[in-house]
Amino acid sequence: MTSDQPKSHSPPANYRPIGTARSHDPISKLTFVRGAGPYVWDAAGSRYLDFIGGYSCCSLGHSHPRLVAAAIDQLQRITLAHAANSAARNALEEKLCEVIGAQSSEPSQRLQQKVWLTTGGARAVELAWKIASTHRPGGILRFDLAYHGRSLATATISDTKRAPSFGSPPHPDKIVPFPVNAWAGPDALAEQCNRSLAMAHAILEKHHSDLSMLLMEPAIGSRGYYFAPPWFCRQLAELAHQHGLLVVSDEIQMGLGRLGAWSVACVDGWEPDLIILGKALGGGIVSMGAVLGAAHLMDEVPEGIESETYAAMPLGCRIGLEVLEVLDQEGWIRSSAERGEQWRREIREILPASITVDGRGMGTVLEFSEGYESGAETARNWAIDLSRLGLLLHLTGPARDRLAVIPPLNVSCEALAEARAILARKATS
Ligand SMILES: Cc1ncc(COP(=O)(O)O)c(C=O)c1O
Repeated sequence: MTSDQPKSHSPPANYRPIGTARSHDPISKLTFVRGAGPYVWDAAGSRYLDFIGGYSCCSLGHSHPRLVAAAIDQLQRITLAHAANSAARNALEEKLCEVIGAQSSEPSQRLQQKVWLTTGGARAVELAWKIASTHRPGGILRFDLAYHGRSLATATISDTKRAPSFGSPPHPDKIVPFPVNAWAGPDALAEQCNRSLAMAHAILEKHHSDLSMLLMEPAIGSRGYYFAPPWFCRQLAELAHQHGLLVVSDEIQMGLGRLGAWSVACVDGWEPDLIILGKALGGGIVSMGAVLGAAHLMDEVPEGIESETYAAMPLGCRIGLEVLEVLDQEGWIRSSAERGEQWRREIREILPASITVDGRGMGTVLEFSEGYESGAETARNWAIDLSRLGLLLHLTGPARDRLAVIPPLNVSCEALAEARAILARKATS
């Protein structure tokens, strides 16, 4: 380490407001000084398997050599070209339309897709909101548990319980419950899906003319790692389309491979009008977001309605392009469904039966609640003990009784086996 680097072991800054803390989260006590692949190291030199990875930002692990090389090359060329064009931007826009369009079953959309780049997730959600509202003003039909960001606007439409702290969205929104009962088995889950569909149907019959879009997170990410069956999302999207709403898929966390597809909505056959991407697009290096959609919708927004100084910066675009190239060339998305399923099978064998293991692709969750009994304390203890044993998982869920497992998509078999061994040690301790 060179002498001009900040001291990583300095005490937590006294300059930091209380609101920046995440005191419920065991990893908030750690100070990291280095990351490589699936590992991070703390100031004392301890190594951890980082199976949080910025909630899917590090889908190629930390400091992937190709991303670092692309970033260095771009740093030496040009990093910012506000209001101007750049080769990196052109290439990223083209590649994004290519990979997402290739999954779309709607060939006409594929030909006419456009992409609008932003500096991150919440800004991309707000942009999709602007595009939808330009096309059809009105409120949003959304899930109770979904998380779409914490900017002033997105906070009003994120996880219902905390939403009202800064007022209401510009148009009244409508909410349907996201199905959460995977632990109770497929029949109970299907029953819950059908109840949500019936509720959505009733809302749409009565209020469709006041609504602009159905905003869906195809699996709930930040608020608990809940996975709905694809048929549920498909039917909900169909209902919304029948009533003239736009359908928007927020894939900031679950797209770009986490669930085994470039776009979850496209692969599940519900053809959204707009797809929102983020997190992994920046490779864990820069914050990038994007909205993709049919040209006729995207072009309805006139000039001057949207602007960000750093949006589409060449440095971010170059890294984003490299992320897509690596994922594409090395086949990590194609393999993630099978690898994730295999790993879940293996950990079910070593974990107590009271822990439900659910997931899709390389997104896995351990649920600690037993029936309606909250397992929050157990989940927290597991998160702390696992971190001491060298495995970082994300403590999540409205009741904080779930641990999300979010490894890089390119995680090696050895690192997966190491994580399994740590879980086994904890299970038998
Ligand atoms: C589904 C989803 N939408 C939006 C956001 C907000 O993204 P950002 O934190 O980059 O603003 C997140 C972040 O966790 C997310 O998971």
